[in-house]
Amino acid sequence: MKLTKGMRIGILTSGGDCPGLNAAIRGVGKTAIVEYGMEVIGISSGFQGLIEKEYQVLEEKDLSGILTLGGTILGTSREKPFKKASKGGDEGEKVKKIQKNYKDLKLDALVCIGGNGTQKTAYKLSKQGLNIIGLPKTIDNDVWGTDITFGFDSAVNIATEAIDRLHTTANSHKRIMVIEVMGHHAGWLTLYAGMAGGGDLILLPEIEYCETCITKYLDKRARKDKPYSIVVVAEGIAKPEGVSAASYISNLIQSQTGIETRETILGYIQRGGSPSPMDRILATRFGAHAVELAAQNIFGVMVSMHGNKIGVSPLDEVAGRLKTVPVDHGLIRKGRKMGVNFGNE
Ligand code: F6P
Repeated sequence: MKLTKGMRIGILTSGGDCPGLNAAIRGVGKTAIVEYGMEVIGISSGFQGLIEKEYQVLEEKDLSGILTLGGTILGTSREKPFKKASKGGDEGEKVKKIQKNYKDLKLDALVCIGGNGTQKTAYKLSKQGLNIIGLPKTIDNDVWGTDITFGFDSAVNIATEAIDRLHTTANSHKRIMVIEVMGHHAGWLTLYAGMAGGGDLILLPEIEYCETCITKYLDKRARKDKPYSIVVVAEGIAKPEGVSAASYISNLIQSQTGIETRETILGYIQRGGSPSPMDRILATRFGAHAVELAAQNIFGVMVSMHGNKIGVSPLDEVAGRLKTVPVDHGLIRKGRKMGVNFGNE
């Protein structure tokens, strides 16, 4: 057996759940055990489990049957251990506990699976001397330093299916259907599901919309004998406080055009359930690669995908950055050429 025998690798899932987390845990765990003879420590509930020293030793049998499961067998939380530290109070207490528990658990490496917030914490912990490897997940696909995150493809499938289903009601009732898709700051999911679902009007947080552009476009469509329209909006578009993106846009359309309009908010449905085959593959590849890096003592990086090539991005480049949709993204340009409106023309 290799030099890695006896090496202890910790793994945690942090931030919002998404499809593919268990596939990634399995990818890390099985590769670590089968190929490298490592011990695998599953930390409970993200960084909270590392603060509270809540964990379980994961054996190969614990990793069987979880590939297709949604959610995370480890649990997750939005605990950000550095947040309090910078605001004073129990200054650094959580970070100190993490350092102590990392040592107590005799971890040689820690794989942190999460989105932007998690990668930022991962970077800060790596600066404190912990051997960290990040794995990017999120349905939002907004992690800097990788073309794609796992969870995204499953969510695109779920949101697209929902749009497909809304088409039939829109058509039967000659209504405008407004569908709200997750994504506070980045519109990847809205763009992809919107285009895959044949959306007529797609609103992204990245593109400033004008209200008259929206109502004029939909009015013109109706007059051109297109009796229904599908409007796909990201939850994070500009809107007044306290109202959802869907209801704001829906009210705007109905009041200005007089066309009967209905809204649907997809919500957490987009994050739940079994991962798509693409996400299972991506999470598996990411997980296995993280262990290969640990075996070579490569730390302070996030596993990434560029084109179809697995690689790494340094955590110091990833931390604190957001990958938003470029306003001239190829899919937006193609959509415009086919008559899709993005709210600003
Ligand atoms: O996982 C990312 C995300 O789905 C965002 O698109 C969404 O705004 C957010 O999580 C909401 O999650 P929570 O309510 O768990 O904080």
